[in-house]
Amino acid sequence: MGRRSVDQPQGLQIIIHPEGNTPSQVKDLLQAHSIPYQEVLPPEPTDELFIGIPGSYILYPEDASQADEWVQLLESHKVHGVETQPLPDGAANWLERWKEFYQWTLVTPRIAVGPVFRPCPFDVEVTVAIEPGQGFGTGTHESSQLALELLDNVVKPGSTLVDAGSGSGILAIAAKKLGADLCIGFDIDIDAVKESLENAQRNGVTIHAIHAPVDAMVGQFDVVVANMLAFRLLPISKGLRRLVKDGGHLVLAGLIEENMATFPKAFFDDAGEFEWKDRHYKNGWVSEVYQKKARR
Ligand SMILES: C[S@@+](CC[C@H](N)C(=O)[O-])C[C@H]1O[C@@H](n2cnc3c(N)ncnc32)[C@H](O)[C@@H]1O
Repeated sequence: MGRRSVDQPQGLQIIIHPEGNTPSQVKDLLQAHSIPYQEVLPPEPTDELFIGIPGSYILYPEDASQADEWVQLLESHKVHGVETQPLPDGAANWLERWKEFYQWTLVTPRIAVGPVFRPCPFDVEVTVAIEPGQGFGTGTHESSQLALELLDNVVKPGSTLVDAGSGSGILAIAAKKLGADLCIGFDIDIDAVKESLENAQRNGVTIHAIHAPVDAMVGQFDVVVANMLAFRLLPISKGLRRLVKDGGHLVLAGLIEENMATFPKAFFDDAGEFEWKDRHYKNGWVSEVYQKKARR
């Protein structure tokens, strides 16, 4: 399914109303199927004009057949309050306005992420400015924030890092700004790869980004980070584990609390190769860091 910028007005919009939906489940589903979405956040006190229902999600299908496909998918996953409408007159302006809802977030005392078109209000060491609406990894999602929290602890000056499923490149860019030396992102979505390189340029750093599956990656790295849902992480577990140096760290994000009873055993295959180090939680999302044991 193609990824595209949501600021290109098209004929239809699908609104998912907040009532009866769990926000993390809606986001989860949209992300799992690479459907770009706009999340309507509450207005700022300074907003003179506010359009949209806070807590709702808006999708912009390319055409009626994609709209049908998305509606069927949402309904089959029991997402309630799904409504398809023509885009209102003046949609171009209206679509521009949603960008104003994106604000900077202070993720850790030294990392802030936010939209490229707004100055960062925080006085921090690491700012990651992202062009929102193009794809995954604007920094507004809990799993990206949790990954950043753990990266803040494990990335050291001179570290080498692989960002698996790099999306917008937010994690690799943050790692580079934390002092990492070589940062390589890879993603199975070619648009994400391009976007990550553009975002790196916007942030004045160099990262490497590859359109490839995990099996094409060679070498071993101080840090490997992957922010993907459990069902995507499990099939590539061996490939991800292989990329971590002895003594290096593996940061896994995109997990939810319900995964935790079975996920670690399934992911690590009980090989005893990795030692659990830390876990962070946010709104039902979980991120963990493991260290690969040094071989004797
Ligand atoms: C949830 S987004 C994470 C984006 C970004 N790293 C972040 O933390 O905000 C997951 C990304 O993983 C990519 N992806 C999914 N399965 C993959 C796989 N098997 N190998 C590489 N990339 C994958 C998707 O295309 C998507 O860009």
